[in-house]
Amino acid sequence: MAAFPELAILRTELNGDALAHLERLAVSWRLLSDLSFSDLLLLAPIAHEDGHRFVILAQVRPTTGQTLYVHDLVGHVVDEVERPALARSWRHSEIFEGDASILGGKERVRLQSVPVRYRGREIAVLTREAPTTSGRRPGELERYYLEVYDRLVSMVADGTFPFAREEVEIEGAPRVGDGVIVLDGDGGMRYASPNAVSSLHRIGIHAYTSGVRLGEIGFDEAAVDTAVRGRLPVIEEVEREEASVLVRVIPLLDGWKPAGALVLLRDVTDLRRRDRMLMSKDATIREIHHRVKNNLQTIASLLRLQGRRVDSPEARTALAESERRIRSIAIVHETLSREAREFVDFGQIIKQLVRLVEESVSTGDGGLRFQVVGDAGELPGELATPLAVVLNELMQNAVDHAFPHVDEEPVGGAVQVRLRRKAGEVDVDVVDNGVGLASGFTLDASKGLGLSIVQALVTGELGGTLDVGPGDDGIGTQFHVRIPLATASATQVVEPS
Ligand SMILES: Nc1ncnc2c1ncn2[C@@H]1O[C@H](COP(=O)(O)OP(=O)(O)O)[C@@H](O)[C@H]1O
Ligand SMILES: [Mg+2]
Repeated sequence: MAAFPELAILRTELNGDALAHLERLAVSWRLLSDLSFSDLLLLAPIAHEDGHRFVILAQVRPTTGQTLYVHDLVGHVVDEVERPALARSWRHSEIFEGDASILGGKERVRLQSVPVRYRGREIAVLTREAPTTSGRRPGELERYYLEVYDRLVSMVADGTFPFAREEVEIEGAPRVGDGVIVLDGDGGMRYASPNAVSSLHRIGIHAYTSGVRLGEIGFDEAAVDTAVRGRLPVIEEVEREEASVLVRVIPLLDGWKPAGALVLLRDVTDLRRRDRMLMSKDATIREIHHRVKNNLQTIASLLRLQGRRVDSPEARTALAESERRIRSIAIVHETLSREAREFVDFGQIIKQLVRLVEESVSTGDGGLRFQVVGDAGELPGELATPLAVVLNELMQNAVDHAFPHVDEEPVGGAVQVRLRRKAGEVDVDVVDNGVGLASGFTLDASKGLGLSIVQALVTGELGGTLDVGPGDDGIGTQFHVRIPLATASATQVVEPS
């Protein structure tokens, strides 16, 4: 079934501004439906048929009452035999009320049909379809709701509702059921629904008396003034006594004269408190990552200072390695301190790790090239940190051991980091085209600290596997790391896009 604008263009003579007016009506008319406890339909005459048949462009069901129409009626055609009031409203441009049978059935309904006017001419008809009255006397709330409904419906027939500018769609904007205050032309309160009174209590206003202006009981009237003077709806949030209330003011007009207002209130205190808590939790986590990073950088700097003061080359190397290990962890915390979530884009981290290792290559002659291929996607922080340390060790080993002659002459050395993301696992290879492992080398027999750290992290902490062998075409060395995502983190991991 076609959506409202297409349907209107296809079947009716509506277009341009008049069509936009009806679209605005179909955005704001929930208010009318709720105030009248009734289903509303919006109908426009079918093109070139002289107002004998109408097509239903839109339908709204009340949230304050029961619907008569559980089926979608949009696109349905109604003729003047079925609904004479419709054609009369259209031709005579007047509001008609009477009995009719329900659309598509025999049951009786109370029908009100209202011409929708725009710039002095009829462009559509709005109908209110209500159950026939039971003879029960309506309560106070119901009476005020219906009175405001009548006034708004007159505005529809006058062309002053919907308003020229649509209300800003705010999440959680107050509805009729949230709380209603009716103001007269002088701003005095005529009625406040029980929910509205509760909302006033939340912001510390306990002195509700009818006839009194909102300003007199301590409620900021600025929004009401703006709405009434500008003849446009206004929505505003009032915060007081740690409570937040959303205020939506709809000016009521008599012709073009301001004649009171409908004020809808919604207590959003709990909603806002939750927003604030979520926000501050994220901000706190980011701040902690930031501080951890700063502390790690301080430690790294202290090790560097110490390294400058020792004479033994082994001690220097050991301190430099420790410094790099700490910096590789700091990189992950820095990245996490910039993220709103506990996930990091590992692509960003690997780039910084490569830079860290490149800085340690003493020759500046470009004899050694680094390359990153593929993508690991987003990883949870607790997985990214050990993986960063592992890759730092493996890249550093390539630099330290694969090209023993790089200082003497450029050898066209290359180190590649290959990242792959599969379902439930991350695969990383660090491949070089250097001299290869010494014959008889095995991971188990290896005594170095670097590979011990790598093994402990990969097989222990991350629950993965580590293999080593010759590189591409049997040249150099290839370390292969596989990490399962499920065991590494219970958190759901986002697949790379
Ligand atoms: N890419 C590589 N190419 C050649 N040999 C390597 C490579 N990676 C590691 N090795 C060998 O493995 C040994 C152990 O490495 P590691 O545990 O990091 O200790 P260290 O780097 O301190 O020697 C190295 O001394 C080296 O012989
Ligand atoms: Mg090493």
